[in-house]
Amino acid sequence: MENTNPKVWLNGKMLDYADAKVPILTHSLQYGSGIFEGIRAYKTKKGRAIFRLKDHVKRFFETAKIYSMELGYRPEEIESAIIEVVKVNKLDSCYIRPFAFYGDDKIGMSTSNKKVSVFIAAVPFGAYFGSGLDKGIRCKISSWRRINSEILPIRAKASGNYINSIIAGNEAHAAGFDEAILLSCNGYVAEGPGENIFLVKNGRLLTPGEESDILFGITRYSLIEMAKNEGIEVREGSIHKEELYIADEAFFAGTAAEITPITNIDGISIGNGKVGPITARLANEYREIVSGNNTKYKNWLTEV
Ligand SMILES: Cc1ncc(COP(=O)(O)O)c(C=O)c1O
Repeated sequence: MENTNPKVWLNGKMLDYADAKVPILTHSLQYGSGIFEGIRAYKTKKGRAIFRLKDHVKRFFETAKIYSMELGYRPEEIESAIIEVVKVNKLDSCYIRPFAFYGDDKIGMSTSNKKVSVFIAAVPFGAYFGSGLDKGIRCKISSWRRINSEILPIRAKASGNYINSIIAGNEAHAAGFDEAILLSCNGYVAEGPGENIFLVKNGRLLTPGEESDILFGITRYSLIEMAKNEGIEVREGSIHKEELYIADEAFFAGTAAEITPITNIDGISIGNGKVGPITARLANEYREIVSGNNTKYKNWLTEV
């Protein structure tokens, strides 16, 4: 961590990172019952700005609602706390992690009447896939399927869901790939372990839709809007696995991944194996937007 004395917000108080501790019997540590968000702030010409803060906080509260988790704060209070954490740590480009979890007040799985704590931390953060952000990454279709919403609420950003992501990622990394692509239980393309996926075919953008077992990414929504405004046709719907192999271009979209080109899947080159023109165009536009250089989308940024 660059900041030698980072501060975190825990239950309304700003603490030194080293003092923000949780007991080892914390429920969410035992059972994966935490809920969270992942948000980015970027350096801009005017200072720094948080990308789509309100939308992330809205999803945080929706996840809490799905799990009947009483956060004890209003969305505006969490928004202000996030801004405060970015400011107090003097961070420009960073990743912000709001997290809510059940404590250790009673052993057992039940969460009724259990104390909820909320923390917000922020750390300096660059490209999630390193040089892959510019040159593209190689992916493996996982032998693990994405959990579906008959098993767990897939629209919720809950810690437990990520065990599925982790095992798929581990498998891909062990086989020498950069990232996994998970199919849904019904065999269609779902998403990456922490990213939504897009394909380009004949100038059109395709992405798994409402019926797919995906987290509705805020980057995904942003891209769909950007693409439509650029006159690029977008189809949201079911995608067969083999459509990945014959796509002209493919990329991941997510807060951490940003727009990361996928140039190879299962050893098969996507298009000519290089970053495609539509991917490059959207990635460039995204960079300009998050850096505050594209005023058309300035309402997506909260200056800090
Ligand atoms: C499973 C999963 N899908 C998609 C995304 C992309 O969502 P967003 O663009 O809101 O970061 C994420 C990241 O939060 C994720 O964890």
